[in-house]
Amino acid sequence: MKRIGVLTGGGDCPGLNAVLVGIVRKSIKEGYEVIGIKHGWKGMIEKETVPLDLKAVTGCIHRGGTIIRTSRTNPLKSKDDIKKVAENYRALKLDALIAIGGDDTLGVAAGMYKEGLNTVGVPKTIDNDISGTDRTFGFDTAVNFATWALDRLHTTAESHERVIVVEIMGRHAGWLALWAGMAGGADVILIPEVQVGLEEICSILKERHEKRGRTFSIVAVAEGASFGEDITQDDSQDEFGHVKLGGVAEFLAKEIQERTGYETRHVVLGHLQRGGEPSALDRYLGLLFGLHAVELVKNEDFGKMVSLRGNDFVAVTLEEVTAGTRTVPPELYEQAKVFFG
Ligand code: F6P
Repeated sequence: MKRIGVLTGGGDCPGLNAVLVGIVRKSIKEGYEVIGIKHGWKGMIEKETVPLDLKAVTGCIHRGGTIIRTSRTNPLKSKDDIKKVAENYRALKLDALIAIGGDDTLGVAAGMYKEGLNTVGVPKTIDNDISGTDRTFGFDTAVNFATWALDRLHTTAESHERVIVVEIMGRHAGWLALWAGMAGGADVILIPEVQVGLEEICSILKERHEKRGRTFSIVAVAEGASFGEDITQDDSQDEFGHVKLGGVAEFLAKEIQERTGYETRHVVLGHLQRGGEPSALDRYLGLLFGLHAVELVKNEDFGKMVSLRGNDFVAVTLEEVTAGTRTVPPELYEQAKVFFG
């Protein structure tokens, strides 16, 4: 009987529990045992586990977050921690370890594969920015939430004849701001991949107000959009070297009001985009990502991540996946610009 360890790392994301259901259900079919590693890679350093059987996952598919918890711990930062992860993998008598996470968590899975562990990855993030897969689970729920927020902000912006700048998550990639901005009818969308000057933003708004006679506007901005330098909350960094982004909407709102004279407010959607129940699509994808992760374990196809290509689930190497971020192509942004103003 195979023994599979499972961990969830990095920022939480709607659909994580569905992946756990997929892993447990498929493992039962194959006669494998599953144990949950609590708090992401931290749990592998500290050997913190929890049984992951049918009883543990029953009734959790519709719940947001992760029942086995998460952390942003990076064992690759210390030789001692790498050693502890490898020792605990052996002590727990694991045949494989499934890491569900974004590029940081998967980067550790790639590193631990090189250390001799049988790791398998599952792509998780509301940012949809993992290379090697067309889609990550969690993105759909976040897009729907952000679109719903933009709809609601339209009615209040229109009533008060204001500009509202909405800050949407997305550190290096603007998929979420772009999709939600388009679906939610934002008048300007700003993403980390494409620099747009403040003058250009204001001239789009002025044209809309002065030539088209509109009296309100919505600006969707990804938190990682840059206007010279990154706008951060403080100087701290997490274990993967990421700064705490936040503040770009506030900055932009001030600039827009000063430059155009239009009354401008800002809203930060923040962690509301990550919490709450997953959409049907994210539950569906989660179940199948989980099932296919166990399939990789069954075939001893290690050092790989389950990837969605079109409608097919395939395996790609963790090395390929972690080589770079999947960003919004400039031509897609050009298409989005058709809807600005
Ligand atoms: O999971 C990625 C992400 O959603 C980024 O878009 C964002 O910068 C980050 O998480 C914020 O996460 P936290 O506040 O948990 O550090």
